[in-house]
Amino acid sequence: MKYNSNELFNIEDDIIFVTGAGRGIGQTVAIGFASSGAKVACFDLNLDGLRETQKKIKQLNQKTIIFEGDVRNSSEIRYAIEEVEKELGPIDVAFNSAGIANANPAEELSNEQWQNMFDINLSGIFFSCQEEAKVMMKRKKGSIINIASMSGTIVNRGLKQVHYNSSKAGVIHLTKSLAMEWIDYGIRVNSISPGYTKTPMNLRPEMADQIKVFENDTPIKRMAAPEEIVGPSIFLASEASSFCTGIDLIVDGGFVCW
Ligand SMILES: NC(=O)c1ccc[n+]([C@@H]2O[C@H](COP(=O)([O-])OP(=O)(O)OC[C@H]3O[C@@H](n4cnc5c(N)ncnc54)[C@H](O)[C@@H]3O)[C@@H](O)[C@H]2O)c1
Repeated sequence: MKYNSNELFNIEDDIIFVTGAGRGIGQTVAIGFASSGAKVACFDLNLDGLRETQKKIKQLNQKTIIFEGDVRNSSEIRYAIEEVEKELGPIDVAFNSAGIANANPAEELSNEQWQNMFDINLSGIFFSCQEEAKVMMKRKKGSIINIASMSGTIVNRGLKQVHYNSSKAGVIHLTKSLAMEWIDYGIRVNSISPGYTKTPMNLRPEMADQIKVFENDTPIKRMAAPEEIVGPSIFLASEASSFCTGIDLIVDGGFVCW
């Protein structure tokens, strides 16, 4: 068994597929994986964002490949995965970060708002896991990491977002269920649940006052930098977490303790 940190956390030359890689947590973690020597394939709706991620990874002299696509569409994910396997090689790790957030009081939420949240945040994660596992199963090896949220465990004080919170609770249980379904295929499935994180999702001008509340409500008294999600992601991607499957790693500056 390995017990040296350089070996345990080594993801050099791993092939990693990242959804939501055009912005925020997905983009930062994709760059973090690349700077640790992985070959990263990036998938997102946002082509400009993908090009920015690609540029930053190329500056690290690492191989990368980008795909404009929608996690609501299984065939777009399947196409990207087939191309990644042809161009870069067999996918070792998948990191599913594509997601949306918005708020509206429950009694005013339209059916479309409810459905759209679940289509992207829960079905999108399921379709991604499904396509990723299909190629990993053949090799009996792989690590899938889903981005959930602390909102899947707690209810954010003052934020009326029943659809978001419920979709994230769904991601946590979907992760555990898939971890058990695929345990005999050598595929580990885990989630990371970030607390309030400084990404474009939270940096819109209308959020300025809300950010002070987020900082104050978090025991560590600040929001996370997206870079602070990279370490937990490398842990779950690498052999350092070889006995972890079905866990939800909460990375929240202590938020859920109170
Ligand atoms: N920022 C936070 O405070 C926070 C906290 C907890 C959990 N999260 C979760 O982390 C994940 C990433 O959030 P972020 O803060 O980086 O957000 P972000 O808005 O900065 O980035 C999300 C990315 O997902 C992409 N995306 C959205 N819908 C898509 C679709 N249908 N198909 C493909 N790509 C799509 C967007 O284009 C964007 O590039 C989300 O699942 C979010 O719910 C964020």
